[in-house]
Amino acid sequence: MEGKYWQEIAERIYQKTSAVALESAGKIPYSTVGGRFDDQTDNIAWWTNGFWAGQLWQLRGAFGGEILRLIAEGIEKKLDRVFLLHWGMDHDSGFRWLMTAGADWRLTGSEASKNRLIVAANDLAGRFNLAGRFIRAWNDSGDGSRSGWAIIDCMMNLPLLYLVSEIINDPRFSQIAAAHADTAMKAFVRPDGSVCHIVEFDPATGERLRSYGGQGYAHGSSWTRGQAWGLYGFTLSYIHTKKHEYLETAEKIADRFIERIPESGFIPVDFDQPPEPRYEDSTAAAIAACGLIELSKLAGEKYLEAAERLLKNLIEHRCRFDLGCDNILEKCTAAYHDSRHEGAIIYGDYFLTEAVLKLCGKETFLW
Ligand code: GLY
Repeated sequence: MEGKYWQEIAERIYQKTSAVALESAGKIPYSTVGGRFDDQTDNIAWWTNGFWAGQLWQLRGAFGGEILRLIAEGIEKKLDRVFLLHWGMDHDSGFRWLMTAGADWRLTGSEASKNRLIVAANDLAGRFNLAGRFIRAWNDSGDGSRSGWAIIDCMMNLPLLYLVSEIINDPRFSQIAAAHADTAMKAFVRPDGSVCHIVEFDPATGERLRSYGGQGYAHGSSWTRGQAWGLYGFTLSYIHTKKHEYLETAEKIADRFIERIPESGFIPVDFDQPPEPRYEDSTAAAIAACGLIELSKLAGEKYLEAAERLLKNLIEHRCRFDLGCDNILEKCTAAYHDSRHEGAIIYGDYFLTEAVLKLCGKETFLW
């Protein structure tokens, strides 16, 4: 597909995002209410609170716009409160701070942002379970019920550890990231290239106990956003470590994902969900597209073609570039068994933006 096409789409994203950013300055959006962004400022530890800032930084890096920088910096400062909430600090530190402090540090060299990255990486590294060689995912009430839980999504948080190892010239963090990735390869990836969402280990012995269906349809099924996190996450671990097994794993997950894309090109919430109700998740398509674009640079053109097909489908049928609503991407679903389906979710917009900027050579690599 022509570079000009992607350039035009990137400009449309920039125009809409700039207008919406001014209207919603001060907000940390997750979804929309009546078409307008909600605000998660009072839910400051929510895992998605970095994505809007990430989108603003990506577009500021590509096209300029000091107002975008100011708004993104405001969100980064608000997130400092999370550092003091032990229950709020979980494995999603990568999502929270790579998109905020990481982007700021890369684009402005801010020392305060570098400091945030190092503090966040120290906390993430502290979640490493030595017996099972995995990073613990979520917290619990203190009863230990989730102390052995790891989730595939965590593959996307590992780049915080790789980055901070580079920044401070100390391999400790990247060693922990690679140890988790090694465990995830064995414990999450199934022989057919699909992945499970949640795996529970015995936190004392490290033994793999069981898996759970998590946000997907059922135990043993293929939650599509989880497949996308795995696809992109193993690609990123390869980029940072050059360990060939990670690339092979990313290809295996990608091949299975591509095989299962329905004729329509729209990605369901779970590849194994029943035909009705036919819930979609556009975020899975956007995340997978980002992973496939990176994978194509390492493993061949077929991945780029698949990414372009997914994105074009989203752009033509699942995107709003007008100002009638604040979000861009439509039909995003957090989890199959949620009561809400097919709405706006901020990381859908972020990954759509990242993918389009990748294709016109204007992305700031935040991972
Ligand atoms: N990381 C949680 C999710 O993908 O919904």
